[in-house]
Amino acid sequence: MQQTAYADYTAFQEFAECADNPVMHAIVERRSTRGFEPMALTQDQMETLTTAAIASPSAMNRQSWHFTFCSNSSAIKAVEAEVARLIMEGDDEAAKERMTARHGKVFYNAPTVVFISSDESSIWGAVDAGIAAENIVLAAQSMGLGSVIVGMCRIAFEGENGKTFAHTLHFPEGYRFSLAIAVGTSNVTKEAHEVGEGKVTMM
Ligand SMILES: Cc1cc2nc3c(=O)[nH]c(=O)nc-3n(C[C@H](O)[C@H](O)[C@H](O)COP(=O)(O)O)c2cc1C
Repeated sequence: MQQTAYADYTAFQEFAECADNPVMHAIVERRSTRGFEPMALTQDQMETLTTAAIASPSAMNRQSWHFTFCSNSSAIKAVEAEVARLIMEGDDEAAKERMTARHGKVFYNAPTVVFISSDESSIWGAVDAGIAAENIVLAAQSMGLGSVIVGMCRIAFEGENGKTFAHTLHFPEGYRFSLAIAVGTSNVTKEAHEVGEGKVTMM
């Protein structure tokens, strides 16, 4: 048993096989972006992100997902305000601290948020949604856009106004919120995350 050849994945460029691989570049250069310019995405960018979403693999090709590409700032802000309200009224102190540190920002002023909802009868819904989310963030990265996967807004869809949000965002009947992705032009930089010990085994 041995550990991975390189624990620090940011050093991947040293590996000849990866150096010219644009997919690997997108994978290792992607960061969670927590600050965006107000600039709207172009039609081409939206179409590329949509293609990435619907090209995702899914268990038994059931396509248990639905993607709402929302660039309506009022709708985005309404979800954000609901998340902030529910967290600040709740008793999860860590979430309250996070919300305060992020100045009540859940989507970080992103011009577009992709809401992924999943067929609640599918046992693979959450997995399918996660895989599609990664397709979307890597496509964003490949176009020079920033993105962040946002799970914390789940609370808005579980609260007393959850059905209204699901309706406003056109979740199909029988679908529930899985993940959101905030996407746009980044105005922040971030270091790569540190990788914990023992995350890879070679045998
Ligand atoms: C399922 C999931 C949910 C996440 N939810 C949030 C979130 O609600 N807010 C946020 O700012 N980041 C969220 N993130 C981003 C993680 O915090 C981030 O991926 C992690 O810290 C590693 O940093 P990196 O993405 O820059 O490599 C989420 C990521 C995943 C995969």
